[in-house]
Amino acid sequence: MTVHPSSQFSSVATKHAAQRKFDFRSDTLTQPTDEMFDVMKAASRGDDVYGEDASVRALEAKVARLTGHEAGLFCVSGTMTNQLAFKAACLPPPSSVLCDARSHVFRYEAGGLAANSQLTVYPVQAQQNGGHHITVEDIERHFIPDDQDVHMAPTRIISLENTRDGTILPLDEIRRIRDFCDAHKHQGIRLHMDAARAWDAAAATAAAANNGQNDLASLGQALQEITGLCDSASLCLSKGIGAPIGSVLVGSHDFIRKARHFRKQFGGGWRQAGGLAAAADWCLDHVWPKMATETHVLAQRLALGLEQRGRFKITVPVETNMVFIDVRGSGIGLAQLSQRLEEEANILIGNRNATSDQTAARLVLHWQITPEAVDAFLDVVERLSREAAPEHFVNDPSKGTTNLETSVYASR
Ligand SMILES: Cc1ncc(COP(=O)(O)O)c(C=O)c1O
Repeated sequence: MTVHPSSQFSSVATKHAAQRKFDFRSDTLTQPTDEMFDVMKAASRGDDVYGEDASVRALEAKVARLTGHEAGLFCVSGTMTNQLAFKAACLPPPSSVLCDARSHVFRYEAGGLAANSQLTVYPVQAQQNGGHHITVEDIERHFIPDDQDVHMAPTRIISLENTRDGTILPLDEIRRIRDFCDAHKHQGIRLHMDAARAWDAAAATAAAANNGQNDLASLGQALQEITGLCDSASLCLSKGIGAPIGSVLVGSHDFIRKARHFRKQFGGGWRQAGGLAAAADWCLDHVWPKMATETHVLAQRLALGLEQRGRFKITVPVETNMVFIDVRGSGIGLAQLSQRLEEEANILIGNRNATSDQTAARLVLHWQITPEAVDAFLDVVERLSREAAPEHFVNDPSKGTTNLETSVYASR
C-alpha cells in the first residue's frame, strides 16, 4: 500500500498531539499550531539572501516600526542577533562590554563575544534595589575610560537585558543609562539591549496603563519607549511570542546593512525563510495581545499557589512570565516534584535528576500553558505537601544549592 506523504504527516501530527505535555521549562518550548502552518503555506517563497522575500521584508519592517528603529534583520536565533549586534558595531580592539553579571550574552552564548568580536566582558554586579537590576551607578563603578592606560580595554558598549529572569528593567533606569552613554559620546559608547523578552516588558507596562486592555497600538507604544532608547536591540520571536523560530535585530539602516553582511559570514543567510517570518508575524498579532492578561496572570496564580499550598519560596519577583522557586523548607524534593508532575499532570519542569541538595528551579509560562495546567500543577504540589516526609525538609540555608548558579537550563 502506498501512503501519501500528507497522510503520513498528519498521522505524525495526531500522535504528537496525543502526547502533548505542558512544558514549563522554557517559553522556547511552545509548539507550532495548525493556524501557523496555514499561514506558512500562504507565505511568499522568495530568497531572503537575495533580499527577495516579501514575508521576511514585511516582518523586518514591522518589528523595526514597533521598536522605533530604522531597519530590522530576521535571523535564526536570539544568540545570532545578539552576536551580530556586537560584531556589526565594529568596535576596535581592545574594547570591552559592560553587562549584568547574570546576562545571557555573558553567561549563555558560548563565549561568543570573545570569539566573534574580540570583546572582553566586565560583568556588572547589581548592588541596589536588592539586586533587581543594574543601575547607572553600577555601570559607573565598572566603566573603563579611554584614557591611554595601556593595561585596560576601554568600555565601548553597554548591554542591557530586558526582561531578565522575568523582571522588568525600569524605563527611568534605561533613560539614565542612555544619558550616561550620550555623556560619553567622545568614547563612542553604544547601548545594546538583549530584548529577547521585551515583548513581555511592554505587555506588562501597557496592561498596567490600560487596565489590562492591550491592543497592538498600545503594545507598540510601550515597546518603542523601551527599545527606542537603545542603538540596537535583539527581539526573540521563538520565546513568549510563540513563533517556531527566529529573532529580529533592529538598528539604523547602516548598522543593519553591516549585520546582514556578517550574518552571511556566520553562515546564517537563509533562503526561503518566508514561511517562518509569516508564522512569527501571525504570533505577534495573536499571541502578544494576550500575554499580560493570560500568561502573566497565570504566572502570578502559580506563584501564589506554590507559596500557599506548597510552602515554596518565590526567590525573584514575579513581574512577567517566570517563577523562580526554592523548595527548601517545603518537605518536597525537586526530583520528586518533577517526577510526580510528569506522571500525574503531564507537566514538565526539568530537574528529574536533581540531587537532594538542589533546591532551586525556574518555571516559565507561555501561551500554551492553560489555567487547567496551572491548577493541576498546584494540585500535585498540595498532594505532595500533605505526604511530605520530615527527611525531605531541607531547612538549613547552607545545605540547599541552586543549580541556577551554573545554568538556568534544566534538562529533562
Ligand atoms: C535573555 C535571552 N537572550 C537570548 C537568548 C538566546 O536565544 P536563542 O535560544 O534563540 O539563541 C535567550 C534564550 O533563552 C535568552 O533567554
